[in-house]
Amino acid sequence: MAEIIPFDDRDGFIWYDGELVEWRDAKLHVLSHGLHYASSVFEGERCYSGEIFKSREHTERLHSSAGMMGFEIPYSVDEIEAAKTATLAANGLTEAYVRPVAWRGSEMMAVAAQKTRIHLVIAAWEWPNLFGDVKGVRLDMAEYRRPSPESAPCHAKAAGLYMICTLSKHAAEAKGYTDALMLDWRGRVAEATGANVFFYKDGEIHTPDPDCFLNGITRRTVIGMLRDRQIPVHERAIMPDELGGFEQAFLCGTAAEVTPVEEIGPHTYEVGDFVKGLAQDYNDLVNRRIPA
Ligand SMILES: Cc1ncc(COP(=O)(O)O)c(C=O)c1O
Repeated sequence: MAEIIPFDDRDGFIWYDGELVEWRDAKLHVLSHGLHYASSVFEGERCYSGEIFKSREHTERLHSSAGMMGFEIPYSVDEIEAAKTATLAANGLTEAYVRPVAWRGSEMMAVAAQKTRIHLVIAAWEWPNLFGDVKGVRLDMAEYRRPSPESAPCHAKAAGLYMICTLSKHAAEAKGYTDALMLDWRGRVAEATGANVFFYKDGEIHTPDPDCFLNGITRRTVIGMLRDRQIPVHERAIMPDELGGFEQAFLCGTAAEVTPVEEIGPHTYEVGDFVKGLAQDYNDLVNRRIPA
């Protein structure tokens, strides 16, 4: 097994509340509201050949996630864009994963936290595809379901919404799967624990309506690519009993990029030319080998 290099013990610089600090000094106090009550939002972005793909969209989503969580990040979109560039430069990175995270600080330590200071850090490191160099991933069915819009601010990229993702991913890995497919509160197919899901059948694409989970930037990019190629895309309610009827499937997200799916529970999918071609096209797009 590869040696684990902890994320708090690396060389480099992290942008922390307006300045670049030594990686190992980028600390927060244990009595931080974000840690105790999940008052925290974040982004996951990828830099390809020196340019973050859809950088501004990610920063705008960070701002809007914070808004949904009832706080305002004290840096403008332009300031955050400049901070990301500075972080990449300070670490000498051109191929990287970029992780901004904002949270409520230590001024109040109870459920109410209106007077807490809002902090922001931006870290960047080399991180190849989430699932590694696999032919296709194998998904278990998750026990937990995505909450309804009445139960949580489900369109925010908020730390608290990932609690059930970690539990589901751990349970899947313990059974030998790569990841888990989550249903939503109504029992419809929703998404994986950190990526959106798509299905292919008879030359057409089917994907769940993102009405109670993250409408990923990659998801929207992929839908645009497919529609440009006149491939019909049906965003609709998909029930689990349909899973056996699709020919190919894939996950997509910033970390996952476009990753073929080989199995979901008892169902198997071909890692076929369609999905492989799309993964290549996405790679060409983010690396600016084909025009956006
Ligand atoms: C739960 C979840 N769904 C979907 C996505 C895909 O979003 P994006 O393509 O914007 O990275 C992610 C990744 O950020 C995620 O964590």
